[in-house]
Amino acid sequence: MRSVITGTGIGVPPHVITNEALSRLMDTSDEWIRVRSGIQERRYAELGQGSTDLGVIASRNAIADAGLAPGDMDAVIFATMTPDHVLPGNGPLLQTALGLGDIPTFDIRQQCSGFLYGLELADLFIQSGRYRRVLLVGAEVHTAFMPWHLGWDTLIGQSTREITEAERAENTLSRDRTVLFGDGAGAVVIEAREGEAGLGTIRLHTDGAGAGVLTMTGASFKRRPFVTVEQIQAGETVPVMSGKEVFKSAVTLMPQSVREVCAASGLAVEDLDLVLVHQANLRIIEGVQKALGLPPEKVPHNIERYGNTTAATLPILFHECRQQGLVRPGMNLVFTALGSGLHWGAALYRT
Ligand code: UT7
Repeated sequence: MRSVITGTGIGVPPHVITNEALSRLMDTSDEWIRVRSGIQERRYAELGQGSTDLGVIASRNAIADAGLAPGDMDAVIFATMTPDHVLPGNGPLLQTALGLGDIPTFDIRQQCSGFLYGLELADLFIQSGRYRRVLLVGAEVHTAFMPWHLGWDTLIGQSTREITEAERAENTLSRDRTVLFGDGAGAVVIEAREGEAGLGTIRLHTDGAGAGVLTMTGASFKRRPFVTVEQIQAGETVPVMSGKEVFKSAVTLMPQSVREVCAASGLAVEDLDLVLVHQANLRIIEGVQKALGLPPEKVPHNIERYGNTTAATLPILFHECRQQGLVRPGMNLVFTALGSGLHWGAALYRT
């Protein structure tokens, strides 16, 4: 029995935010963002639109693409680091919004590796015979992390006021992170099928010693109360990142994981037709491609249009590759990701 992706869908929010628009809010530039990250624009959610809402749109599209109805799902895995609420998770909210019926929902939080970890769980669910149809969703609304109360109205065209120098200075404090992230969702339906196609070897890794390189320490249950105005004013509710350390880990560990799944499956790296890399930075994606010695066309990217959407990058990219006819029957495809945790790994998928 194999776990086969039979439907894909995406849910991307309406506001297209260019680098130029961000440079009106803080000291940054289109040139800096393009050169350092490859990002040209990203999507921002509407005020009041959460990751569940985007996940619902993506899921509806994925279920329809699979030729199924919401009531056909047996279980949901929802990967996000930006849930609507601390509790409950997005799973039950999505279940009710979609009318999935009384099925179990799992909320997982492996950040940029969330989709990859979700693939492992879905495959284990299907291999065990427990569930036959799993809906796997990756969705994020990162904008709530961003201090856009200082200029948000201007950014989404709801005001023409100029932001103040004080607001600009404050927005600039988090510019190394905020310009990289965007909002979005992707979903896949995974079904039990006989045959050659489906998920193959998956290798997942965690190293908590690297937890500090990408973390958010404000709004913590180690604190009393768990969030205060002072924490917000000190910028502690915005994630902190040692960009260079994450970068180095990414360009080393993702190629290593791809080689690991190839070796475990008796494949050479050259046998791979497509490698879908978590979309965090175009320089990282190109670094992985070069480290593996693959031609650029085997490592597609869409970070230019979405920025880093964390758990949503891989399902959005996979969906777009299918739409563009890049995914054809009989291919060896690998998904790979690395992110906060640190969590990383790779999953082989035979189309
Ligand atoms: O999803 C997984 C998690 N995230 C990642 O994988 C991200 C990994 N890291 C990266 O992508 C890169 O390290 C960054 C894009 C975050 C930064 O690129 P970098 O080449 O490592 O730049 P840097 O941090 O060394 O900064 C260079 C300069 C600094 O100024 P000084 O100290 O040289 O004067 C920064 O203050 O660029 C400045 N800078 C900016 N300038 C304009 C930082 N952010 C910005 C900005 N606009 N947005």
